[in-house]
Amino acid sequence: MKKVFLGITLLSVLFSSCKTTEKEDMIQSDFDFAGRQLTFAMTEIDNAKAEESPESKERREKSNRGPLVNPRTINKEGKLELVPSRDWTSGFFPGELWYMYEYTKDKKWEEAARKYTDPLEREKTNGGTHDMGFKVYCSFGNGYRLTGDEKYKDIMLESARTLITRYKPHIGAIRSWDHNSDKWQYPVIIDNMMNLELLFWAFRESKDSVFYDVAVNHARTTIKNHFRDDYSSYHVIDYDTITGEVRHKHTHQGYAHESAWSRGQAWGLYGYTLCYRETQLPEFLEQAKHIADYIFSSSTLPEDLIPYWDFSAPEIPNEPRDVSAATVTASALYELSLYDKENSQKYIDWANTILENLSKNYLAEEGQDRGFLLLHSTGSKPSNSEVDVPLVYADYYFLEALLRKQKLEATGNLF
Ligand code: GLY
Repeated sequence: MKKVFLGITLLSVLFSSCKTTEKEDMIQSDFDFAGRQLTFAMTEIDNAKAEESPESKERREKSNRGPLVNPRTINKEGKLELVPSRDWTSGFFPGELWYMYEYTKDKKWEEAARKYTDPLEREKTNGGTHDMGFKVYCSFGNGYRLTGDEKYKDIMLESARTLITRYKPHIGAIRSWDHNSDKWQYPVIIDNMMNLELLFWAFRESKDSVFYDVAVNHARTTIKNHFRDDYSSYHVIDYDTITGEVRHKHTHQGYAHESAWSRGQAWGLYGYTLCYRETQLPEFLEQAKHIADYIFSSSTLPEDLIPYWDFSAPEIPNEPRDVSAATVTASALYELSLYDKENSQKYIDWANTILENLSKNYLAEEGQDRGFLLLHSTGSKPSNSEVDVPLVYADYYFLEALLRKQKLEATGNLF
């Protein structure tokens, strides 16, 4: 009897250590792959810069957009699409390089990360967009976290000061876009929740409560106006500039005004999870939990948990997926698992399933796909732009989620 018991114990120890190795292997093998692909991406970037047409160069120089800096996607001609620093996606590539540095501790990645981060400095005074957090927090923010470089801190503080110039107290939200002024007066998009992380950081660093107040007010106004009773969210809420009243509840990148655009749900989940981390206000945790429930109880979420581009896309299952929504969601779920203990394991299981399926079935081909990591994301289906392609932010949140998984398993914490 004793022998049988010993045998069973030994087997189960062996089995669980096999499982751990399998999990570690996935993280290790994804980072190994990322290291090779990102090295390849850097040569692709150099080639794409050298191949820029004289007309495009002239247009760019006339509009004072600055140089092309970082990759965003693969365009319809199959070429690497590079963006200038003012594009909302410019911070993700350097962010990936910082994550490589964090994982490997190899100085060569720090050097590369700095090279692709530093040209974004001019964004610190660009008040023409709400995308400051995406651009600056993912690049300089990770750089500052990992190196403590005071210059990066100054750039981030100035960026946060610029971002809050887009806040109007009588509306209680930061204005997202200035375009489409024939349609919207004061559009605020759900994506904007992601920019609050920079403001909370600025509050912690500077102790200036204005950053905290703007972020909390924005998050509260968004709970009030962006969400439906089932906790799915609208994409664009347009406010009356004078009265502060809601004028329209619209979409821009989703299927319909009343549908749930997949990446928007992911931005909301991530956004409210980080708001809870920074404030400990229960209303934000409740919101994040409800958003997670909405996503994972959706009847159109595929078995592999990689959503279609919109939860109500009309031709499901013959619709493109959006891997970027999945990677943002996975990363957010690891964090949410820290705060909602009752459902912790459920969130971890969902996030693990997403990462395992991405690693098995969605990876780009090594040495191909212009150095991107993941295929099958969708930028904006309604404008037939970036449909079923690699997107740099899908890759960024993939690496972030892998790092979070590793930290959680090693220490039970993320920060
Ligand atoms: N923030 C723009 C997007 O998610 O497409």
